[in-house]
Amino acid sequence: MRLMRLPDFSRLFLSGLTLGLAASAAGQSIDRVYQQYCATCHGDDLQGGMGTSLVDDEWAYGGTDADIARVIREGLPLKGMPAFGEQLDDEQVRAMVIYIREQQEQARLEGVRERVKPTDGVVTTEAHKFKLEPVVEADDKTFWSLDFMPDGAIIATEQAGHLWLIREGKLTEIKGIPEVRYRGQGGLLEVALHPDYEKNGWIYLSYSDDRFRGVSFTAVVRGRIEDGRWTDQETIFQVPRKQMFATAHHFGSRFVFKDGYLFFGVGERGHGELAQDLSRPNGKIFRLWDDGRVPDDNPFVDREDAIPAIWSYGHRNPQGLDLNPATGELWESEHGPRGGDELNLIEPGKNYGWPVITYGMNYNGTPITDQTAKPGMEQPITHWTPSIAVCGIDFYEGDPFPRWKGNLFVGGLVSEELQRVVIDGHEVVEREIILKDQGRVRDVASGPDGYLYVILNHKSPAVGSIYRLVPAE
Ligand code: HEC
Repeated sequence: MRLMRLPDFSRLFLSGLTLGLAASAAGQSIDRVYQQYCATCHGDDLQGGMGTSLVDDEWAYGGTDADIARVIREGLPLKGMPAFGEQLDDEQVRAMVIYIREQQEQARLEGVRERVKPTDGVVTTEAHKFKLEPVVEADDKTFWSLDFMPDGAIIATEQAGHLWLIREGKLTEIKGIPEVRYRGQGGLLEVALHPDYEKNGWIYLSYSDDRFRGVSFTAVVRGRIEDGRWTDQETIFQVPRKQMFATAHHFGSRFVFKDGYLFFGVGERGHGELAQDLSRPNGKIFRLWDDGRVPDDNPFVDREDAIPAIWSYGHRNPQGLDLNPATGELWESEHGPRGGDELNLIEPGKNYGWPVITYGMNYNGTPITDQTAKPGMEQPITHWTPSIAVCGIDFYEGDPFPRWKGNLFVGGLVSEELQRVVIDGHEVVEREIILKDQGRVRDVASGPDGYLYVILNHKSPAVGSIYRLVPAE
């Protein structure tokens, strides 16, 4: 049995005194608050001691966020768990719950790593066995997005500002695309073929606009490829200089085409409050005609103060966008801060809440808000806390993996994982990690051959790669 170190402050809590420690907790990172107030009883790694383990997913007093928050606030006087309602305000209690969830997930992942480790190159998952087959591997590149050409080639963006055609593992550059501002999360981002590409030849690109140097915003163009060069370029979306920022993060963006429309998301560029401002393009999902015109039935076309291209708002950083083939609905994945990565069902005119409500906290462990819901703001279909840094998403439609049909595949950057998410209506009924620690999963897409393609990027040494999952039954 582990001996408990009982420091002065906890003796004081236990005897009912409070000492006015609230002031000293305010503004501190939650990791430090944990070490200061909780570690003596629950252990440095939350593994337990005099108090129970907080990472074994066994909750004697209820396992919902609200249950855990209540125990922290009110304590369990008869069991020797002090109340912290005086020391920690609601936002800090919320941050502590997120912190406990993070640590719990870390402990759980040890088991996951073991389970999805390939044996003889084969990964065994619940519904299918598969092998990872390399399509291309390239040094010093970070691939961002890919799409499939009718002739069997793959077209892929490299974040540094290069567009590539890939045939039989060989890269050919398409020259003449716009200059991009390659800084932080910016650069050349999404690429997609128009659904009628074989008739009209249009290819769409999104990127961080470098027209004005020093400041940038997400822009969208379309163009054609002729004799290996980018030509016929048309601007679909760009903002004036006064709406640009010097920040290098939260650009979005992915494309979805539907019924002649183009949908794409743009991040809030590090200015969360502007995601709520309909007169600014930050933190929005837009709907345009595929030639860039604004549809006259967009939700805010009649409001003088609103940008008419807006379809939905209150987004932090949309990273994945796909149509559910069964329903035609638009689904989106979005980066939360620390915790609170979201999967959203996107509907016109709706407010998705950032930064007023969120399931996450600041990266330094200080709280943003304790509000996770509010009238007039949409709840995510699900959220990932801790964050996996969600990225590209894809509803699988192919035949080679029949038991995956209709499932949503979600890439994770920081977590280096690919998740299979089973959706029933508007509910997530199952989540399975099917790939882990093989690289940052930037994009995932069903190929015309029915295989699932993933972009896997490694940081150091920097290697960009595209792999496909093929059945190994
Ligand atoms: C003085 C020791 C002590 C300190 C300090 C302490 N706890 Fe506890 N905690 C306990 C004990 C004892 C229990 C109840 C164990 C039992 O059920 O017998 C408990 C239970 C809990 C539970 C409920 C677990 C369950 O199974 O449902 C949570 C959550 C919790 N503590 C969180 C915290 C957090 C967060 C902090 C710091 C803000 C903290 N505790 C500080 C002793 C402590």
